Amino acid sequence: MNDMTVFDVEKIRGDFPIFEEKIHGKRLTFLDSGASAQKPVAVLDAVQDAYRHTYANVHRGVHYLSQKSTELYEGARETVRDHLNAASVDEIIFTKSTTEAINLVANSFGQMAIGEGDEILLSYLEHHSNIVPWQLVAERVGATVKAVPIDTNGDLLRDRYEEMLTDRTKIVAITHVSNAIGTVNPVKELIAKAHSKDIPVLIDGSQAIPHMKVDVRDLDADFYVFTGHKVFAPTGIGVLFGKAELLEKMPPYQGGGDMINRVTFEKTTFATGHSKFEAGTPPIVQAIGLGAAIDYVNKIGFDQIAAHEQSLLSYATQELGKLNNIRIIGQAKQKAAIVSFTMDDIHPHDIGTIIDQAGVAVRVGHHCAQPLMDFYDVPSTVRASFALYNNKEDVDALVESIKMVQEFFR
Ligand SMILES: Cc1ncc(COP(=O)(O)O)c(C=O)c1O
Repeated sequence: MNDMTVFDVEKIRGDFPIFEEKIHGKRLTFLDSGASAQKPVAVLDAVQDAYRHTYANVHRGVHYLSQKSTELYEGARETVRDHLNAASVDEIIFTKSTTEAINLVANSFGQMAIGEGDEILLSYLEHHSNIVPWQLVAERVGATVKAVPIDTNGDLLRDRYEEMLTDRTKIVAITHVSNAIGTVNPVKELIAKAHSKDIPVLIDGSQAIPHMKVDVRDLDADFYVFTGHKVFAPTGIGVLFGKAELLEKMPPYQGGGDMINRVTFEKTTFATGHSKFEAGTPPIVQAIGLGAAIDYVNKIGFDQIAAHEQSLLSYATQELGKLNNIRIIGQAKQKAAIVSFTMDDIHPHDIGTIIDQAGVAVRVGHHCAQPLMDFYDVPSTVRASFALYNNKEDVDALVESIKMVQEFFR
């Protein structure tokens, strides 16, 4: 529900205590939310309250605190289910991150459905965590990993995608939004094309969830994964949505407490639903924090968040474009608020280090997307990634600090 009639970025900034900090004595310009986002008071309070007032292990306890803690943990699962519009809480599995969620699917679905000679279809836009788990599985079973190419703007080549869906393709695993260059993939259409050949699809939503409303039933995604810390929640919590009919058939990923029905030394039978995939004590308080984060963003409303971030993206692209010797990498038709760029002859690490002195925090490096960097023939870029709490002043500070770098190297 959206109870804010006007998007008030200054009010939103007030929800995030980090902005009271001075960095090297300067105002903080935080443009690294794509790596991990800052936390609002609503999340900090939820985490602290859980540890102070209701903390105990979940599920097995009969005492008050255990029941209370279970209620809050399972309440967070219902919040995620509702947010993604999944049909049932059994389709929502808590993991520690996107990385763990993809490893879970690669291993469990891989064991069930991928064999020798099969193909796994990815794209050039993937983060390493949506490449390496598939390579490990492929190597184990004798399958091949293929990647759909992109054009120089960073848009996926859709005709190539269709051609690469063959009878050997056992799964498509593709990102919703590129973390390195911001491309928003037309995932609904990509899923429909794969389904027309009965191929299931995993969508890596790590960079989509903080910026747009996702409806897994509307997309018809088979698996949708994301990580909590990029959507203002604590670290150590991720989500795997999976369609019930697939999860029911998939073998467990890890063994341990909570995921069993009955254990003997001869044979173990497994729990059903989400429990089958949640071995051991789960990230209880992190999940509660994620529930609070999702409530927080929904209260602001994704229409407002997206409109605000898109205006920052246009302004940043325009202002950086006015500077000499800047090459913006990634100009896809639809982009999330991420601007990646390089500057003639100046190494991104030098840029990042110099502008840090002005309190400007950006990410420099390959962004865990080395195949994409290879495509653009650059070892690394400077990446400014925006979130709901950024404002025009942040863009101005970035541009001024880049001018300072140019001055320094003149
Ligand atoms: C697109 C994408 N996928 C996956 C990940 C991995 O997330 P985590 O490290 O939280 O597992 C990231 C994080 O940068 C990402 O941006």
